[in-house]
Amino acid sequence: MHDDPLVEAIHRLRKERNAVLLAHYYVDGEVQDLADFVGDSLQLSQAAVKTTADVIVFAGVHFMAETAKILNPSRKVILPDLSAGCSLAEGCPSDKFAAFTARHPEHYVISYINCSAGVKALSDCICTSSNAEKIVRSVPAERPILFAPDRNLGGWLAKKTGRELLLWRGSCLVHETFSERKLIALKARHPEALVLAHPECEPALLAMADYIGSTSGILQYSQKSPATTFIVATETGILHQMQKASPGKTFLPAPPEGNCHCNDCPFMKKNTLEAVHHALETLTPEITLDEALRVKALAPIQRMLELSA
Ligand code: 13P
Ligand code: SF4
Repeated sequence: MHDDPLVEAIHRLRKERNAVLLAHYYVDGEVQDLADFVGDSLQLSQAAVKTTADVIVFAGVHFMAETAKILNPSRKVILPDLSAGCSLAEGCPSDKFAAFTARHPEHYVISYINCSAGVKALSDCICTSSNAEKIVRSVPAERPILFAPDRNLGGWLAKKTGRELLLWRGSCLVHETFSERKLIALKARHPEALVLAHPECEPALLAMADYIGSTSGILQYSQKSPATTFIVATETGILHQMQKASPGKTFLPAPPEGNCHCNDCPFMKKNTLEAVHHALETLTPEITLDEALRVKALAPIQRMLELSA
């Protein structure tokens, strides 16, 4: 028995519904602690492929639940709050993206998983931040590459691989919020600290990082590193797992420019315990997709999963 009746009810409903609860590292710690599986975008799509549950409750954002549905048409996929979007996905509407790709028919199109099914359907291959470098390197050197929708991840990949990437110029509202000026001040107060950053951060921030990687990469790096203090330039939810994995180490969130909580993703934080409970109780809101679109969007996701195996 659990002390919190809401948590108790979530456990009970999960069994009754034969549901699996998947959670991204950016959701609140209390939801992460309840999940059957917590991971980064790639690990969550791999977990969605493997599950045998009838229902997938996705504590994440819309493009993640939609990807789970593309991979699992026969299962019910529930997103606790349908308005949990993503500024990257919203900043790349599929009609405008179709016009962009049509102007560059010779390009191989790689889209970051943070995009709609419509954009995925226009892509040759999907990537996440943990496999993006590998996916870019898999494209023959003579083939030009178009990368969307995150310009910062794209810029970082171009630098790492030496490839010229034609970029869609989107960005994440959380990762563009970090302040270079405040980070310099925080580093001065903690000179021993290592800076760990997600590649969605602006180039000036990335230039100050000791390690750049996906959420799972950042987590693993902090576990393995002999350093004991880290400044973390990504959404704050990841600090929960970092602290759990290394209780003796110190984790400081990189400061946003304003006096705000702008380093909390407002979409990820819609996955409250109450919303997860409501989702399990009512099995809504459900993700649905046009079948022809689903099939088109599936091929580039499968290509990514094959290349990441
Ligand atoms: P990863 O979990 O793949 O690092 O990406 C995080 C993300 O952008 C979700 O917003
Ligand atoms: Fe999208 Fe940024 Fe939120 Fe990730 S943190 S879901 S990229 S808005």
